[in-house]
Amino acid sequence: MTDNIDGRLRIAVVIGSVRKPRMADPLAAWLEHELTAFDWLELDLIDLATVSLPMHEMQPGGAAGSPIAGRLADADGFVFLTPEYNHSFPAALKNAIDWHFTEWAYKPVAFVGYGSSGGIRAVEQLRGVMPELRATTIREAVLIPMAWEHVDAGGRFVPPPGTAQALHVTMGELRTWASALRAVRIPDLAGRQ
Ligand SMILES: Cc1cc2nc3c(=O)[nH]c(=O)nc-3n(C[C@H](O)[C@H](O)[C@H](O)COP(=O)(O)O)c2cc1C
Repeated sequence: MTDNIDGRLRIAVVIGSVRKPRMADPLAAWLEHELTAFDWLELDLIDLATVSLPMHEMQPGGAAGSPIAGRLADADGFVFLTPEYNHSFPAALKNAIDWHFTEWAYKPVAFVGYGSSGGIRAVEQLRGVMPELRATTIREAVLIPMAWEHVDAGGRFVPPPGTAQALHVTMGELRTWASALRAVRIPDLAGRQ
């Protein structure tokens, strides 16, 4: 793990959809814009569509060949931007989770979900997965129902009322947990399975 020079928390946003085209693009652009305004965080946008994590190379306990292991390891907390597919979250996101192990440990994960019902079923399933990696999940979440109905003629996501407030509350909680867990994080989890 590398030191953060100015004391800000490193927050990695993981884009869970790898489809083309995808609703994730306008949502990620909006999220990046909003999060850049938070002066307490340093943002890293991890787009799984640009990352090669072959399923046949995945190992239990994490694999050395991951191109994003270092970025995940450097993060103090995560925001998963996830759609809902068949009442769950995308396979690409599960694959990225499974490819890593210690990178998630003792860190908080917040969710921005979308789908017809705001991605709630995807988010709730992720709440069952992440504790296996010793990650904790943030109670509050940003859930955006019918996100595709909030895209303007220029392709920009225009958040429905309440979305920015939900993001603020969620990020406040993420900050609290990320600060607290930074203090207790065990730097070397090698050997733990
Ligand atoms: C394979 C597939 C399954 C889906 N299943 C659901 C579902 O169960 N519930 C839901 O609310 N939306 C479902 N949707 C709609 C997606 O949540 C919606 O299209 C979303 O915008 C997809 O995000 P993306 O374009 O960034 O991949 C599904 C979409 C796909 C492609």
